[in-house]
Amino acid sequence: MIDFPNFSENSHSLLSKFLTKSVFEELKNKKTTKNNSLQQVIASGVAHQDSHIGVYAGDKESYTIFSSLFDPIIKEYHGFSKHQKHNSNTDITQFSGSNPDVENKYIISTRIRVARNIANYPLGTIISNEERKEVEKRIVSALCELKNELSGSYYPLYNMPQKTQAQLIEDHFLFKEGDRFLSSAGLNNDWPNGRGIFHNKEKTFLVWVNEEDQLRIISMQKGGNIKEVFARLIKAVKEIEKVITFSKSDRLGYITSCPTNLGTAMRASVHIFLPKLSADMKKLKSITNHHHLQIRGVNGEHSESKNSVFDISNQRRLGVTEIEAINDLYKGITALIKAEKEKI
Ligand code: ADP
Ligand code: ARG
Repeated sequence: MIDFPNFSENSHSLLSKFLTKSVFEELKNKKTTKNNSLQQVIASGVAHQDSHIGVYAGDKESYTIFSSLFDPIIKEYHGFSKHQKHNSNTDITQFSGSNPDVENKYIISTRIRVARNIANYPLGTIISNEERKEVEKRIVSALCELKNELSGSYYPLYNMPQKTQAQLIEDHFLFKEGDRFLSSAGLNNDWPNGRGIFHNKEKTFLVWVNEEDQLRIISMQKGGNIKEVFARLIKAVKEIEKVITFSKSDRLGYITSCPTNLGTAMRASVHIFLPKLSADMKKLKSITNHHHLQIRGVNGEHSESKNSVFDISNQRRLGVTEIEAINDLYKGITALIKAEKEKI
């Protein structure tokens, strides 16, 4: 039995906004078949009152059993109502853009990732040590079948030299360790068991295993060729999907631990150098808002931008197709580069 949490006046999380007393009363004793509870769903947002969202699902069923809490959060973040149905479209022939920076002056690198989880397993917040290892085994055996450009090796975290790990993080290839939001959600349990990274020789195709989601499938390279990066990603996802069935819902698309990633589960980003616009953040933000883009720092979420380099990516992942999401990025980045060039 849990008590209604105390939210401080300064808490602006979507959890504190939508966990009303009546929603709490409705959900407090509910459990999913895999035994996920409201307490587990809200643990991170209660522990960290500076959360933006504050909730994590423990399994696919969490999104229906606790829908009175998840639905308004999903509506506010993605603009996706409870009557809508998510559609996917990865047909690259329908993407008319390619590289918004052909002169190679502004975009340092492009990265597109999707999150995936394996059907019928609990998500990372409530998975057991044994099940997590099983998930790792299944993922690694699927990845080892990949051919040509996608073929690579798996490096488990437990025996990775500290120096290698630090270098991979610094080079933007590997997840950081000890995220406090993930820890409180249970997503760092039994660390580093079952965690690791797979990558090809060039590190243009990478897969994170058992971080926030069971798979984060990543395609990245220097420069701004969004089309090439997307094509590699889609090819990889299709190959992996031949062997592994991903957790998916008719309404919400791909199921992820955090509701911000549902749907396409895709974040397409560029690292971009905008020295003039960085002195006019109002203008920069007005362009990114107009194109539904989010600004992050150079070391990923919860980091600061450095030396006028920003991580800019699609904000919407649910209720838009993959093609629409990369179009948002293409158009927004084109507009940013135009504004940067026009600034004196
Ligand atoms: P996620 O993308 O999985 O939501 P983060 O925002 O924490 O998670 O980013 C993960 C890592 O990817 C960070 O090191 C970040 O700097 C790096 N990254 C993101 N976008 C790019 C990019 N376009 N080029 C190079 N590295 C990137
Ligand atoms: N739980 C954190 C918060 O509410 C992060 C939410 C979005 N980011 C993510 N990696 N899922 O602020």
